[in-house]
This record gives sequence, structure tokens and C-alpha cells, in this order.
Amino acid sequence: MSTDLVLDGQVALVTGAAQGIGLAIAAGLRAAGAQVALVDVQEEMLNEAVESLGGQSDDVRGYLADLSLPEIAQSLPGRVADDFGQLDIAVNNAGRRGVYAFLDYPLADWERTFALNVTAPFLICREAAKIMVAQGGGGSLVNVTSVAADLAFGNRAAYNSSKAALVMLTKSIARELGVHGVRCNAVAPGIVETPLNSEYLRDSPVTPVILDGTPMGHWGQPEDVAAPVVFLCTPAAKFITGAVIHADGGWTTGKGY
Ligand SMILES: NC(=O)c1ccc[n+]([C@@H]2O[C@H](COP(=O)([O-])OP(=O)(O)OC[C@H]3O[C@@H](n4cnc5c(N)ncnc54)[C@H](O)[C@@H]3O)[C@@H](O)[C@H]2O)c1
Repeated sequence: MSTDLVLDGQVALVTGAAQGIGLAIAAGLRAAGAQVALVDVQEEMLNEAVESLGGQSDDVRGYLADLSLPEIAQSLPGRVADDFGQLDIAVNNAGRRGVYAFLDYPLADWERTFALNVTAPFLICREAAKIMVAQGGGGSLVNVTSVAADLAFGNRAAYNSSKAALVMLTKSIARELGVHGVRCNAVAPGIVETPLNSEYLRDSPVTPVILDGTPMGHWGQPEDVAAPVVFLCTPAAKFITGAVIHADGGWTTGKGY
């Protein structure tokens, strides 16, 4: 592997890392040489995830945290930097979605969704970037968005809107922090088989519609999203900021004919 694609000596924080896409991202960053802080709200699964990466050590630590609480999200980058001695990468992957018809959409679900999908990434990016600038600049922030930022899925007004907001947050951060060498990018997954949706994918009437609308004809696996996230964190991506990479099998190309 080119030295441009390795992360030796770097410290990475990954949210929602106990399972699914977040665990694949943590594993990918670790495989590229980074020390990794796994963050999640589910304690047992978090411990299992840490074990799957070799167990708690100088290179891998678990952080139990409910990121929908702003004070918890805000304090996280500092805690990780204190424990590891530095922070070079932050990946905002934790996300939630509520499913309600718009006319009945509950305010509480809207607020919960924005707290986790937008406010937590805002606070984590802001605090991580302060640390990166204080370290002398450089560093990579990656936000996991969704094709829902481009396509309005039914009964998911908060999720769609939160992911679109996260895309613009990504670009706004890139716009301001380029001068410090701090890059901020997004990866937008299409349908990926994770605990969030695997049962739904098998039984849902929309499954054939998804597959028909995806030029590659199949949905993705967590590793298909982790790979572009890891790439964006490496020196090979040193001139890429404010970008959104779609890992969606071509779904957002539109159908055409
Ligand atoms: N799976 C897909 O098809 C798909 C498609 C597009 C975008 N995404 C996005 O990718 C990201 C990961 O999705 P996934 O499918 O792996 O989800 P998942 O539900 O399998 O995993 C999400 C993780 O986030 C953690 N989490 C939830 N609430 C949290 C909180 N308050 N604080 C800390 N951690 C919390 C969960 O415990 C879980 O481990 C999400 O942002 C999601 O919106 C997923």
C-alpha cells in the first residue's frame, strides 16, 4: 500500500462504532494504522466491538456516550485527545431516523433526530477542529450523510432534512477550515445492509424498487462505506475538502434510460 494511504501515528474518533457502518469504519481506520476511539450508546455492543479490534489497549478504546446530549457530544473530542495525547480524525457516523407521515410528524422525534444527526456532528467537528488547529493544523473530519440528502424518502422528513443539513455543515466547515489544513468531507451511503435495516430489506415491498433503481443491482455492505471514509482521512486525499462521495451503487445518478 502506498504510504499515502496509511494512518500510522494518527488518532481517530468514530461515533456509532458499536455495529454496522461505524464498526467497519473503526476497523478500516485501525487496519490503516490509526489508533481508534470507538464511541457508542450501547454498552454491551460497544464492548464487543472493542474486543473485535483486539480489546482495550493503547491503540483501541471504547467511550460510552449518548451523543444526543449536547454537553456529552461537546466534551468527547477533548476526552479522546486527553486519553490518546492528540486527535487527528473525527468521523460522525452515529445517526437515527424516525418514520412518521408528515402530517403527524412529532416534534419530539424531529428534535431527537436533529440532536443526533446534526447538532452532535456540529459540536464534535467544532471541538475536534479546535484541537487540530492547536496541534498546528491538519486533520480530517468526515460526516456520514445519506442519499436521503438528495432524495426525499417518504415518511422520513426529519431524517432527510437532517442529512441535507449535515451536507451543508460539511461544506461550511470545509470553507472556513481549509486555511488551517483541516479538511471536512462527507460520505453518502445508499442502501447498506446493517442492523438498522437488514430485516426491513429482506421483507419490504420497496426492496425490488431499490434494486431496480440502483445501477449496480445490489445494496452495499458496511465495508463499501468504510473504504471511502478511510481514504478521505489519508494523506492521499490531502487536496479534497468539502466533497460528498456517494457510496450508493449509482442510485443518485437517477434512472434515465
Ligand atoms: N444502513 C444504511 O442503509 C444507511 C444508508 C444511508 C445512510 N446511513 C447512515 O450511516 C450511519 C450508520 O448507519 P448504520 O446503518 O450503520 O446504523 P446502525 O443503527 O446499524 O448503527 C448506528 C450506531 O449508532 C449508535 N447510536 C445511536 N444513537 C446513538 C447516540 N445517541 N449516541 C451514540 N451512539 C448512538 C447505535 O447504538 C449504533 O451502534 C447513520 O448515520 C445512517 O444514517 C445508513
